[in-house]
Amino acid sequence: MTADELRKKYLQFFVEKGHQEISSANLVPENDPTALFINSGMHPLVPYLLGQPHPLGKRLTSIQKCIRTADIEEVGDSVHLTFFEMLGNWSLGDYFKKEAINWSFEFLTNPKWLGLDPQKIYVSVFEGDPEMGVVLDEESIAIWQEVFKKVGIKAQVGERIFAYPKEKNWWGPAGQTGPSGPDTEMFYDTGKSHNLRFGKKCHPNCECGKFVEIWNDVFMEFNKTPQGKFIPLPQKNVDTGLGLERELMILQGKESIYETELFQNIIFKIEEISGKLHAQSQYQRAIRIIADHLRSAAFIIADGVLPSNKEQGSVLRRLIRRSLRFGRQLGILELFCGEVAKVVIADYQKVYPELESYKEKIVEVLIEEENKFAKTIDIGLREWEKLVSKKSKNISGKESFYLYETFGFPLEIIEELAKEKKIKIDVNEFQEEYNKHQQASRQGAAKRFSGGLADHSEATTKLHTATHLLQQSLRLVLGTHVHQAGSNITAERLRFDFTQDRKLTEEEIKKVEALVNEKIKENLAVSFAVKTLAEAKKEGALAFFGEKYQDKVKIYTIGSFSKEVCGGPHVDFTGHLGSFKIKKEEAAASGVRRIYATLN
Ligand code: SER
Repeated sequence: MTADELRKKYLQFFVEKGHQEISSANLVPENDPTALFINSGMHPLVPYLLGQPHPLGKRLTSIQKCIRTADIEEVGDSVHLTFFEMLGNWSLGDYFKKEAINWSFEFLTNPKWLGLDPQKIYVSVFEGDPEMGVVLDEESIAIWQEVFKKVGIKAQVGERIFAYPKEKNWWGPAGQTGPSGPDTEMFYDTGKSHNLRFGKKCHPNCECGKFVEIWNDVFMEFNKTPQGKFIPLPQKNVDTGLGLERELMILQGKESIYETELFQNIIFKIEEISGKLHAQSQYQRAIRIIADHLRSAAFIIADGVLPSNKEQGSVLRRLIRRSLRFGRQLGILELFCGEVAKVVIADYQKVYPELESYKEKIVEVLIEEENKFAKTIDIGLREWEKLVSKKSKNISGKESFYLYETFGFPLEIIEELAKEKKIKIDVNEFQEEYNKHQQASRQGAAKRFSGGLADHSEATTKLHTATHLLQQSLRLVLGTHVHQAGSNITAERLRFDFTQDRKLTEEEIKKVEALVNEKIKENLAVSFAVKTLAEAKKEGALAFFGEKYQDKVKIYTIGSFSKEVCGGPHVDFTGHLGSFKIKKEEAAASGVRRIYATLN
């Protein structure tokens, strides 16, 4: 089965079960300041899991682009990726455990769909936790026993069904607060023999490599409060997710995701440029890292991110720089990132047309960043030479960490350089420095997440409504060539990118500000109607995102002033917004300006 067939079958299966297909959201969360990237299929659906009605109803299915960089150091093994596609289906207060489990099993094992051997499927459930006030998920156990019984398998607990604690079988929330719940996971027995790495008796979560997790059904019936309590949600939801690449690896009986057709052309290109082969074990990791990172980079750029030292841009920069370094490790000295990205674009553009639309931009951004970093590498090499000429035999961990931190030299390159000169490096001390640094950045990350979605929601909702007022005001003051090119909202400010090829004058900025404040004072009502995208466009609503044509969408109107296609949420009346102030106006990219603004 090819990736394309798998995507189609999945959506078809759930459409047949009454689900509506929704498009993948942009990789940059529109209104979630607690995360840099969309990391799962449920992520764009949080407001609906919390109870807001979705315009397409209560059963949804999608293939969502996801970025997860927490395990970036593991990329290069057989299953870790920074970009992946997640297949998912949702019940928003509609069906619950029985249907979710039965359908998952049907899709996995029925020959009409994936046709996996039921004998090779093992499952896990939540064992309960007295502190959380949640008991063992006996309901799911009973449903699984029924399901297995139908195919002649006696599913005993401890043999086919396994109960695990919250570390394994509880999902979410994404931030500190929000929807979460117990889950049931499905595993596939690859038939590999257990290597006893994790104790005597092998089991689904043993992690020896024999069992691979293939699907996660989350029963999202709780909302975690800022006090850490799990209170029942008004509606019982189902949120399921399977990683396309891993599923494909199982279906095709491959040893790693890099051996599926999704990576064939990309790896072939890297082999061609470097003259090194994926089959040569000493080069395999570097080739895989480049393939993964440039695939992610192409998708991230297509969704409007540029390399920078902040937020999404810094993640993109890291992906490109790591690719370049590993490229040097393979002996590549010429520009190559753009060439590899062209293959990514060609392979994926049918499914993700945004890659085709931004083809030139993606290649241009990669070449520019690569050129910039090539210089950094050279400066780093000079620093290295200086260090080496000053010292004779030893380089401290602090000094090598300085090279890592300042010039982006990975330890393995520093070690290689040292080896050539027969110099010793204090690797332990390097590790200590590294750990200290990791801890500091983790604390930073924890802080970032500590607000949680719910805490920020009021401030971000207001800024979101202000963004609509801003866009319409810009169009009235500057002209209708102004289109939204990007939006990012935190609890403190809005950031709005729009098409405009020159700087705004002081006077224009004052005019726009005054117009937004006028509309706030008028206390206009904000409301929405659900229509098809075609109807929305006919009515003249602004719509700048990649919604599919047949999708039903929400059109938000603010008095008679603004009309935009948007998922919401918004305030009910503009009078709630307070006073609007433009803090900064600057260039964001060629032909795109950026405004930062606040409400007080
Ligand atoms: N939210 C769950 C996951 O990411 C299921 O979609 O695994």
